[in-house]
Amino acid sequence: MLTKLLTVTALLSVCQSIIDPRSILDSLPSYKNYTEMRKKYFEIIRDYPYGDSDLRCTPMDPTPGRPKDTHHIRPSDIRIIAAIGDSLTAGRDALTESTNDIGTEYRGIAFDAGGDSNLSTRTTLPNIVSHFSPSLIGASHGTRKGKMVLNRGDPSTDFNVAVSGSLSTDLMEQVEELERRLRSSKSVNYEEDWKLITLFVGSNDLCKYGTDNSTDFSAEAFVGRVNDTLKFIKQKIPRSFVNLMPPFNVFAINETHESAPFCEQFHHIACPSLFVLTEEEGARLFNQYYEGLIDLPNQLNAEGFAVTVNKALNMQRLPQIWGTPHFALLAIDCFHFSGFTHDVAAKLVWQNLVTPEYARGDANDFSTLMLQSVACPSEMCPYLQSNLTDCASTKSAIRVLVDPAIVAGSNSKPVAVMAIFGVLMGCTLLAVGTVATIVRFKRRYKRRVNERTPLLTAHYYETIF
Ligand SMILES: *[C@@H]1O[C@H](CO)[C@@H](O)[C@H](O)[C@H]1NC(C)=O
Ligand SMILES: *[C@@H]1O[C@H](CO)[C@@H](O)[C@H](O)[C@H]1NC(C)=O
Ligand SMILES: *[C@@H]1O[C@H](CO)[C@@H](O)[C@H](O)[C@H]1NC(C)=O
Ligand SMILES: *[C@@H]1O[C@H](CO)[C@@H](O)[C@H](O)[C@H]1NC(C)=O
Ligand SMILES: *[C@@H]1O[C@H](CO)[C@@H](O)[C@H](O)[C@H]1NC(C)=O
Ligand SMILES: *[C@@H]1O[C@H](CO)[C@@H](O)[C@H](O)[C@H]1NC(C)=O
Repeated sequence: MLTKLLTVTALLSVCQSIIDPRSILDSLPSYKNYTEMRKKYFEIIRDYPYGDSDLRCTPMDPTPGRPKDTHHIRPSDIRIIAAIGDSLTAGRDALTESTNDIGTEYRGIAFDAGGDSNLSTRTTLPNIVSHFSPSLIGASHGTRKGKMVLNRGDPSTDFNVAVSGSLSTDLMEQVEELERRLRSSKSVNYEEDWKLITLFVGSNDLCKYGTDNSTDFSAEAFVGRVNDTLKFIKQKIPRSFVNLMPPFNVFAINETHESAPFCEQFHHIACPSLFVLTEEEGARLFNQYYEGLIDLPNQLNAEGFAVTVNKALNMQRLPQIWGTPHFALLAIDCFHFSGFTHDVAAKLVWQNLVTPEYARGDANDFSTLMLQSVACPSEMCPYLQSNLTDCASTKSAIRVLVDPAIVAGSNSKPVAVMAIFGVLMGCTLLAVGTVATIVRFKRRYKRRVNERTPLLTAHYYETIF
């Protein structure tokens, strides 16, 4: 508590003395320390091969005739890709390297929704699926700055409706907008096209747990909202396969505080629950969220609808290296995924999508993970895998990791390698920019109102940038 007060006081005094929030950051010694330290971790991964320029999956035609149901669709059958989520899916700050760019969303490289470049240099789910299905539409492109609100009625074929700062309470609004865009797009055959929709939310819910009485952030409430969203998709958006990602385990980023005071300062704003829950309570809460989601596929899967829980990014702690978390996993705000993490995440998430549920890995069992190449669907069972996908006794092809030392540094032990993984999880989510955070510090100090993520609203951004 004392540390917190001191931090707030220190930040406040800086806030009051300087007008441009960016210069506030640049004048914070802890920020300078963090950004300089972080550069060293990027040295470790400088040879990491973004994308997979040598993908050797057997070419695949769309299913002759048509797939028998949503549990047997090949990557080559997918025509539409879409995503619902928060700042992690908006790619927030993924490539931000200067204070001026803080708050920028790199929507074109978000692991689950971005379509910038191609698989030769950048791994994302859309870039992988496009490899099998060249007419795929729906990916998001480029960058966006400022507005943290849903762009209603976007007439383009950008079906990434994620908004930075979103909570599970925002899911319905997003899925309704997705339905609207799909129905109104001339490029979409609404009834016939096969759709892959990622739903990745809840990290911000975990961050607010216990710090905001205005919303119920219990696991039951969270799972209930996801359930409602899935039911909406099942009823209204035909031929959908949902890639349901549990929230990022935000409690893993607590560990950054020891080596990076800036991270602790920023997390007071971005993830206040880190300061009110114990490690055990955090772990239990995350597990309750996750366990709640695991039940949903059995309740909802049907002939015309598929959902699978994809735990590829689940981790208990951040991968370690040099005795600290691997900071190359984290964005400049010490909260979101770095561009490196987005690339790795896309590979891991895809691998799980083409692997039967019983054989899937998460980010804790690093040695079985594949960081440098993109997995091929098995030739015997080349489908997106749900609990109802039936391929009697076949195994999915899992390609072996290329030299893990490239990502872990030359003295790496397996443990160090794991760190990379951890990176994935990194921190992510919240949509808050660091600058906004500091501003909020100031406001929060004055009034203890329970507004919903006020920092995350467009208002602040318009003021700041
Ligand atoms: C950052 O601070 C730590 C101690 O908190 C110090 O050991 C380290 O040298 C500093 N790094 C830089 C780049 O200033
Ligand atoms: C990626 O784009 C580059 C440049 O446009 C092109 O040369 C290359 O063939 C593309 N690679 C793939 C895998 O499509
Ligand atoms: C939440 O409500 C409890 C009692 O209902 C109160 O003691 C606590 O101060 C409230 N917390 C916040 C952050 O408003
Ligand atoms: C999901 O919704 C269905 C149908 O309304 C309901 O029967 C089920 O209990 C819900 N499950 C959860 C975990 O909320
Ligand atoms: C965060 O770390 C602090 C100090 O290391 C610890 O007391 C606290 O329980 C941790 N909180 C969580 C949610 O992990
Ligand atoms: C998949 O189905 C099996 C058997 O029906 C069940 O035990 C398992 O929990 C299901 N997994 C998920 C993630 O729903």
